[in-house]
Amino acid sequence: MKNKYLYIETFGCQMNVHDSEQMAALLANIGYKTTDNPNWADLILLNTCSIREKAAQKVYSELGRLGKFKEQNPDLIIGVGGCLAQHLGTKFHKRVRHLDFVFGTHNIHRLPEMIGSVQKKREKITNVDFYKSLNSIGIYAPPVNGSISAFVTIMQGCNNFCAYCVVPYLRGPEMSRPPEDIIKEIKKLADNGIKEVTLLGQNVNSYGKALENGLNFTALIKKIGKIAGLERIRFTTSHPRDLSEELINCFAEEEKLCEHIHLPVQSGSNRVLTLMNRGYTIEEYMKKIDHLRKVCPQISITSDIIVGFPGETQKDYQETIDMMEKIRFDSTFSFKYSERKGTAAQKLAGKIDECEKQQRLKFLQTLQDKHTLEKNTELEDSCQEILVEGKSKNSANDLTGRTRSWKIVNFKAEQELAGKSIAVTITKAYLHSLRGKLMEEVGNVN
Ligand code: 5AD
Ligand code: SF4
Repeated sequence: MKNKYLYIETFGCQMNVHDSEQMAALLANIGYKTTDNPNWADLILLNTCSIREKAAQKVYSELGRLGKFKEQNPDLIIGVGGCLAQHLGTKFHKRVRHLDFVFGTHNIHRLPEMIGSVQKKREKITNVDFYKSLNSIGIYAPPVNGSISAFVTIMQGCNNFCAYCVVPYLRGPEMSRPPEDIIKEIKKLADNGIKEVTLLGQNVNSYGKALENGLNFTALIKKIGKIAGLERIRFTTSHPRDLSEELINCFAEEEKLCEHIHLPVQSGSNRVLTLMNRGYTIEEYMKKIDHLRKVCPQISITSDIIVGFPGETQKDYQETIDMMEKIRFDSTFSFKYSERKGTAAQKLAGKIDECEKQQRLKFLQTLQDKHTLEKNTELEDSCQEILVEGKSKNSANDLTGRTRSWKIVNFKAEQELAGKSIAVTITKAYLHSLRGKLMEEVGNVN
C-alpha cells in the first residue's frame, strides 16, 4: 500500500484532542501517516470547536489558509469534523467552497467510507447524523507509541442544557459506554505501557445513569483501580450538581485516583447560576468543596468561570470575585460570555458590553494568577510524586512530569526516567510550573 499523508488540526477541548487521535488511528489502518506539514498532505482534516465565537472564527481563517494547498494539489481532500461541522452541516459547503466533506461528532467511524466516496465520485459529502447508543461503536483506541498517558472516552453528550452552551445540541444526548468496553480498552492500554488514564466525558459524574445494570461512576473508578500496571486515574469534566458524596469519598479510598478535580462553577451569584440553569446554589457548591478538602486535604481544585453572562450586574460579578477569594482555586479557565445561536441565553435581556466583559475578565484573571502562585508556593519544600513524561520542551537538560495534583514539574536528571514515578522536592514555584529536585536518597517511588 502506498503511503498517504494526513495533516490534522484540532481546535477546542480534550474531547476533540482525543477524537483527533482516534481519527488518526482509524486512518492509519487505511494507509495514512500523519504529517505536521500541510504541503505533504493528501488529506487535511480540521477537527473544529464552536463553544465560543472566537473558536469558530479561528476555524474559518485556518480553512482559508489551507485551501491554498488545493490550488497546488487538486487531488488533495479537505474534510471538517467536530462541533462546528455538526452545527453547520451542509451549510459549511456553502461557506467554504473548497471543502470535500463535513462530518459530525458521531460520524468519526465513517471517515474511511467518506474518503473513499470523495475519491471515487468527487462529490461533496455531509454526514451529521447522531447514533443511538455507544455500544461498541465509534471508539478506536489510538496506538500507544511510547506515551505514558492516555484519554479514554467513557461517555458522550450532555443532557444539562446550561443556558449558554451549545454542547447538548452538537454532541447529542448523554450516552455511556458499557463498562466492559472501557475496562477492556484500559487493560490493553496498561499492557502497552500506559500508566495514567484520563476518563473523558462532558459530565462524567452521571456516568452509567442510562445503562441497564450498569455501574455508577464511583464503581467504574474502583474497577479501573484494579487494573494491573495502571498507576493513575483522572477524570474530566464533572458537573457540581452530580458530584456525589460517594465520589468525593473515593478521593480518600481509591489510591490510584489522583488528587485533582476540575469542577466548573461558572459564577458566584445564585441569580446568575439560576439564569444559567446550572442546578445548584453557590452555597451547595462551597459545601462540596469543603467536603472534598476535608476528605482529601491535598486535593487541587480547578474550575471554569464565565463573566458577562446576560444580566450579570456589578453585584453578581462581585459575588464571583468573593467566591474566588473564599475558595482559592488552584487555577481557572475563564471566559467572556459568547452568544451562541439556538441557546436559551441568546434570548435573555441585559447583554453586557464587550469592553465591560473584558475588564471583568482581566481583573478576575489577575486575581486568579495571584491565587495560583500562592497555591504553588505552598508546595515549596514539599515532596511530590511525579509521573515523568519525558524531556522538557524548554530545556534540553530537564525532564518534565506532573504531580498527582496536575501541576507541571521540571527537574534536572541524568537518567532516562520517562514513564517512571519518582519523588522530587519542590524547590521553586512559578505561575505555570514548579521546579523540582530529584530525591536521590528516596529513588523511585515505584
Ligand atoms: N460563552 C463563554 N464560555 C462558554 N463556555 C461554554 N459555553 C460558553 C459560552 N457560550 C465555557 C464554560 C464551560 C467551558 C468548557 O467553556 O465555562 O465550562
Ligand atoms: Fe455545556 Fe452545561 Fe453540558 Fe457542560 S454541563 S457541556 S456547560 S450544557
